[in-house]
Parts: sequence; C-alpha cells; structure tokens
Amino acid sequence: MALTDFDLVMFGGSGDLAMRKLLPALYALDRAKELPPTARILCVGRHDWTLKQFLDTVNEAAKPHIAPGSLTPAMWEAFCARFAYVSVDATDAATYQALVDAMRTDAGVTRVFYLATPPSLFASICLNLASCGLATSNSRVVLEKPLGRDLDSARQINADVGRVFAESQIFRIDHYLGKEAVQNLLALRFGNVLFEPLWRREWISDVQITIAEELGVGNRMGYYETSGALRDMMQNHLLQLLCIVAMEPPLSVTPDAVRDEKLKVLCSLKRFTPTTLALNVIRGQYRSGHVNGVAVPGYRKEPDADPQSRTETFVAVKAEIDTWRWAGVPFYLRTGKRMADSLAEIVVRFKSIPHSIFAQSTGSFQPNCLVIRLQPDDGLQLNLMAKTPGDGMRLKPVELELDFRETFRTPRMDAYERLLLDVLRGHLTLFMRSDELEAAWEWVEPILNFWEQSDSEPMPYTAGTWGPAAASALIGRDGLQWREEALPEMEEE
Ligand code: BG6
Repeated sequence: MALTDFDLVMFGGSGDLAMRKLLPALYALDRAKELPPTARILCVGRHDWTLKQFLDTVNEAAKPHIAPGSLTPAMWEAFCARFAYVSVDATDAATYQALVDAMRTDAGVTRVFYLATPPSLFASICLNLASCGLATSNSRVVLEKPLGRDLDSARQINADVGRVFAESQIFRIDHYLGKEAVQNLLALRFGNVLFEPLWRREWISDVQITIAEELGVGNRMGYYETSGALRDMMQNHLLQLLCIVAMEPPLSVTPDAVRDEKLKVLCSLKRFTPTTLALNVIRGQYRSGHVNGVAVPGYRKEPDADPQSRTETFVAVKAEIDTWRWAGVPFYLRTGKRMADSLAEIVVRFKSIPHSIFAQSTGSFQPNCLVIRLQPDDGLQLNLMAKTPGDGMRLKPVELELDFRETFRTPRMDAYERLLLDVLRGHLTLFMRSDELEAAWEWVEPILNFWEQSDSEPMPYTAGTWGPAAASALIGRDGLQWREEALPEMEEE
C-alpha cells in the first residue's frame, strides 16, 4: 500500500537511537522505494546546528550502521535531501515556532512526531505541540521506551499524552513486535490447523522464553542504573512475547482484536505475593568472566558504575496464567546480559507420551518440543521421535528444521523498518495500547517493590554463563531444565 506524503519530526533526532536504528531504517525504506518522493524528515534537537552540521553528524554516526552493500552515493544524497534540522528546546514553548515554520500545512501531509527522548519530556512536548497548533487530527505520535518506571509513571505518561492525542494516534513501540519471527508466530498459530488444538494445558507441559545477550551494559550505564533487566526487558519484550504465545485466537488482525486478546493474557497473569515472589523470581548481576574467550569486567566495574550497585542484569521468573487454557502450565521467562550466548527463543515443550508400545521405556522418550527461534536467525525446530534404521524398534529424537532466511530468499526488514512503515501507514496492530502498558506494569510492580524493600542483593553470576545457579534450580524444582541444559543429553542418545 502506497504511503501518503508525510513530515516525520524526530525529537531526540541527533540521539543514539536515531543514529543507530531510526535513520538507518528510514534509509532502507527509502532505498526500497517505500517513501513518497516528497516525504521529509525533520530532526529536532537542542543544538543550534545548521543543516550541514547535522548532516555531518548523520554521516559520522548513522552511516556506519547501514550495510555497506546497500549504500550508493546517489541514494545517500537523495536520502539526505529529505532532512531538515530544527533547533527546539522541548520544554520551551517559545522555541516551537521554528518547527511550525518548518512544517508543511497541507491537509494531505501526515504529521508524525517521534519522541525518542526520555519519557520525562513526553508531557511538555505533547502540550507544546498542541499549544502551537501542530497536534492536528492528521498527526500521530510515537513513544519510545522506557514507558514509565512503574505503574504510576506509566499512567502519568498515558494521561499526559492522552490529553493531546487520541489513543488511535498513539504508537507505543516495543521493537520485539516488529521482529519477523514474532509475526511468524502469529502465522504459525493461526495460519495452521496443526498446533492450535494442542496449544493448551492438556498437551503442553511448559513454555520457556529466553532473551540472552552476550553484550554487557556498554556505555548505557546512566540509563541502565535506573532500569535493570526487569524494567528494560521483562516488562515489555518478554511479556509481549508471552502474550503472543498465550493469547486466544483474535477475531482478526485488526489492532483492537489483537490487543484485546493480549490484554486478557496480561490480566490473567497470576499476581505475586511476597512468599511466591521469593520462590519464583531470581535476579542476578554479572561478575567478571569471559565472553567468547575475551575477559570482560563485572557490572560493578564497568565505566561509570556504582561499585555497590544492586541493579539486576539478569532476571528469571516462573509465571503462571490463570485461565482454562493455561492453568498449571509454567511459563519460565529469563533475560540477561553477558550471558553464554546471544539468542532469543521460545521453547514450547509438549507432554510425554502416556504409554509406550515399544520395548524402550516411556521415560527414555524425549517429549516433543517446538523451538521458535527469533535470534540470531529466525526459524522453527520441531523435535520428534523417529525409528533408527536397521533391526529392531530403537527410537531416537530427530529435528525438523525450518530456516526462514533459507525458505524465503526475499529481502528482509529489520524491526524498526517494519514498525516505522506501520506508523507511516497508521497501522496500530503491532503497538501497545495504553491498557496493555498499564497491565504489564501492574504485574511487574510487586517484584520491583519487593526488591526495593528487601536487603538482599542480586545473585552474582560469572559473565559468559547462563546466569546464577538459582535460575537452574527455579526450573529444576519442577523436574525440568532450561533448553541448553537439556541439549547435551539429547545429543548423546
Ligand atoms: C532494548 C534494551 O530494548 O532491547 C536493550 O533496552 C537490549 O538493553 C535490546 O539490548 C535488545 O534488543 P535486540 O533486538 O538486540 O534483541
């Protein structure tokens, strides 16, 4: 579908996210001829820069994030011709006149305001946009995380932005929803008849969702110290993945049909009490170690670190969903930095066969398992039992593999490309609604409060491992293992 012409205004337009992700994504869309020829990108910042100074920064900071093979001087020049730089102090209404002057007034030009700024600026920006007449009915606003740091601040953001923009104009980004594999999960569940009848407590034993990163906190210490793994990854990315795995079939893929179902999952997550929390939530912090053979410092020794920091860089949770479909099925969620590998995957483990007709005892059968891989490559793996060739009925686990990159040799879109395109088209399905955001914080908040009130520290784990031993114990208590712990056994069979 062709896009209508737009002025995209980026607050925080000279910041890290814009340079690393947003501008490279826009370049890719431009190169793929997705952007209307006259569409413009207006970057807003506090610096008193000329356009030339801004473009020098883009050259230096954004260009290196574009795959060299996709850069041609002509394309780059055409892309740069779309830019304007406007110097605005987000909190000072008087400075918005420069933005008013720079924007087009034709009703046919959609206005998109992308707020890649700290959330503390959202309220002032929205109010100032309204007071200078820029927040019109053909405007949209995009909100980047962190969308609050607890339930109250999330509610405040919703209220502040909601005073100026209608819910249908608000795009709350969770970039995990823009990942190809996450949308493929919708296709897998609701485009096939095979899995849905089994997708329930009668047949599924447990679900594991892991987002592991080898990277440490890098140069984001300032932000990370106010966040930690629970706020940074669990409250948003992991819960959104859980919603897509666990939701009931939506009526359609229209925004509210999908978001209504996701909301029901969030509302039916079992609330933690101090007792259940102590048992079911593990937090950790990396100490020095080796990642890919390279020695790396512990979190407390990273540049600008607080040597006594209690910020968690790892969290594992055993969650439960109180519905007819899922009662009693544990959802183990975990995420961490400086882990043994960089991967994101969802593992759906089915129940064991009820009885074996083969000489082999039932216990030695591997239960079927579906692995939905999001990163590093997206794909599916289905583990089945098969007979080994030759005499006798000796069964062995085998894998059916589907590599989406191999299967579809068409160009792919990065999550930000996909989501920006959806914003420009006005498609809200892959964005969070205000009530979803609040429901996610409602579930997370007791954990935050418990940690704040407790004297305990995050459990240390060595960089380059899978997190504290307590995370293995969390799942081991139920007689289960994380997938990587179970793998060697399967290979030995
Ligand atoms: C971001 C977090 O939202 O997601 C980062 O703030 C994290 O801490 C990143 O590294 C992970 O995203 P991806 O797409 O690289 O898995």
